[in-house]
Amino acid sequence: MTYRICLLPGDGIGPEVIDCAEQVLRALPLDLDFVCADIGYAAYKRLGTPLPDSTLDEIRRSSAALFGAVTTPPDLPGYFSPVVRMRQSLELYANLRPCQSIPHASSRANIDLVIVRENTEGLYSGIERLEEDGNRAITERVITRAGSERIIRKAFDLARQTNRILVHVVHKANVLRQTCGLFRSVALDVAKEYSEITMREMLVDTCAMELVRTPEQFEIIVTTNLFGDILSDEACMFVGGLGVAASGNIGVKAAVFEPVHGSAPNLVGTGKANPIATFLAAAMMLDYLNEPESAERLRKAVNDCIANNESTPDLGGSLTTSQVTERVIRRL
Ligand code: NAI
Ligand code: MG
Repeated sequence: MTYRICLLPGDGIGPEVIDCAEQVLRALPLDLDFVCADIGYAAYKRLGTPLPDSTLDEIRRSSAALFGAVTTPPDLPGYFSPVVRMRQSLELYANLRPCQSIPHASSRANIDLVIVRENTEGLYSGIERLEEDGNRAITERVITRAGSERIIRKAFDLARQTNRILVHVVHKANVLRQTCGLFRSVALDVAKEYSEITMREMLVDTCAMELVRTPEQFEIIVTTNLFGDILSDEACMFVGGLGVAASGNIGVKAAVFEPVHGSAPNLVGTGKANPIATFLAAAMMLDYLNEPESAERLRKAVNDCIANNESTPDLGGSLTTSQVTERVIRRL
């Protein structure tokens, strides 16, 4: 089967790490066609928009997309976040953030969890206003039954696919009685359909604490948009940090995988950008394309490099971005 992969390099170190990921993907025994599309601040300067319609069309036409990072220009009137717009336009409702121990001194052991974050509604609904006197600002937190149901199903389905048996539903329904209350009640209903999986509820503040105390207790966490944003950044720091953190944005008709880090302008051209976050995003993409053997092979090559200190300076190594890429390819 031929897969069409849309590459979205973006700005800063985005093009560097995407180029490395393309080389790594080409080294796998897969039939991949690559296309490239514009996104970000450089695209805006050239084309007048950070997210051309043609880019959205390319993503829709592709089997999956791999995105680098973009730079957010300060205070540019009319500029919008192409990342947020892309998630909304393509209805990429599920944000998956795996946190898995790596063989490195900075990583805690025995962690293997995925945070499943609702990506389109909640406090990031975009419905905000500042009242005329300038003294009161209001954001609407929109939680829908349909939106809750599809993200909770995603979490339980993911548990099933990955042989996990525990899903934590994280909310704050004791205070946010309507919005979190709806999310919680949908979760209780959906959980009944997955008899082999245990559902536990946890308040979000407790979860923040428990993630620091014993992250090993979690297998899957499913939660609303803002809570998931915060908890997933918290959790990735136990397992190597930004240089290795990857995520996936999955919708019904499209999926975009990306490293968690930004465009790191301080690292451009230095050879210090760690490409591993993007490699692990590529591995998630291969899982999504139902190529688990290639995904596992890539993850193993990456972990073998890390374990042998073949890494960039953020992980204490002395190799450059392209040297790490060569080592990973050699191990494939
Ligand atoms: P950043 O993630 O680019 O950098 C934060 C720190 O981590 C910096 O010290 C950087 O050198 C380091 N770092 C990042 N990626 C690394 C890698 N692959 N290897 C080794 N070290 C790495 O976040 P920052 O500095 O807050 O933002 C820079 C730009 O990126 C801003 O314009 C911001 O708006 C944008 N950004 C874009 C994101 C995206 O495209 N999804 C996400 C976060 C920020
Ligand atoms: Mg975040």
